Amino acid sequence: MPVETIKWEDGRVKLIDQTLLPHRFKYLVCRDVKTLWNAIKKLQVRGAPAIGIAGALGVVLGVKDSKAKNRGEFIRKVRKAAKYLASSRPTAVNLFWALARMERVAENCQTEDVNVIKKALLREALLMIEEDKKICRSMAKFGAALVKNGDRILTHCNAGGLATADYGTALGVLFEAKAKGKKIRVYVDETRPLLQGARLTTWELMREGIDATLICDNMAASLMEKGRIDKIFVGADRVVSNGDFANKIGTYGLAVLARYHKVPFYVVAPISTFDLFLARGSQIPVEERGANEVRKVLGTPIAPKDVKVYNPAFDVTPANLVTAFVTEVGIFRKPYDFKNKKFR
Ligand code: MRU
Repeated sequence: MPVETIKWEDGRVKLIDQTLLPHRFKYLVCRDVKTLWNAIKKLQVRGAPAIGIAGALGVVLGVKDSKAKNRGEFIRKVRKAAKYLASSRPTAVNLFWALARMERVAENCQTEDVNVIKKALLREALLMIEEDKKICRSMAKFGAALVKNGDRILTHCNAGGLATADYGTALGVLFEAKAKGKKIRVYVDETRPLLQGARLTTWELMREGIDATLICDNMAASLMEKGRIDKIFVGADRVVSNGDFANKIGTYGLAVLARYHKVPFYVVAPISTFDLFLARGSQIPVEERGANEVRKVLGTPIAPKDVKVYNPAFDVTPANLVTAFVTEVGIFRKPYDFKNKKFR
């Protein structure tokens, strides 16, 4: 059963505080847009599709108490809330996709009755949750067909239920493969610096009874060299027109290793993660995060307290290292033609 990562309850947004997992399972209650902005920034809610949904609900929070007297004034408030939420994290395009969708909903409401527009916004955000559930199932069905009984699979970061409204992108594929009776073994990169693999992915896989083995990020090469990885499945934060894509830092290294060792490398992502306004990966804004995330591990210092740090949260993998993109509408293979939905 997937966890309910984010929900709307009694006029508040409730989200699983992912910084506390796996040791504590606790919902964070967001009553205002600022708390929600902070939750995105601090990765209490994280993963591209979940950030999109959080952003949409954040807009609802941002305008729910607005006393705007007319449509024009209210739409300006919606835009202001969306702009504020957009400043939380720059890389996952799902956030910008969801915020733009919310702005469109408000703009398309022709009524001057602000309460009607408020209701339409909430309806749209809740619709995104329902849509994401179906999208996860559809990606999983396409992806599970690529998994063979006995496969040993490597994954990076967390692309599971915690990153979506249902059971995930890359992990959804693995859950579906298991449901189809395939026996698989999954190696999980711990994913330094914030350990989404160690803390979240292992937790999700073990809850579902999937054979999971945690490794440090620097152990993946040795496993591949020994022929112990059959396939790699990862998620994405932004895929651009030529097929370059951004995902959690360390993904690019895995893709290079996969090519050298001839291991198929699959990216599982919904269409809302595709940014066809950008031509190539070098145009993707990559978030850089605070130095203490690297100087410390889960709050414990591991380095001199003033050592210089480089901490990009994502890297960009070139399209030619990807075997295929699994989406809810089908599987894209080279040469990629996302715009015309050409599946090969
Ligand atoms: O910094 P995070 O934890 O939000 O990064 C998440 C990832 O990189 C995921 O792999 C990606 O969002 C896909 S999740 C379905």
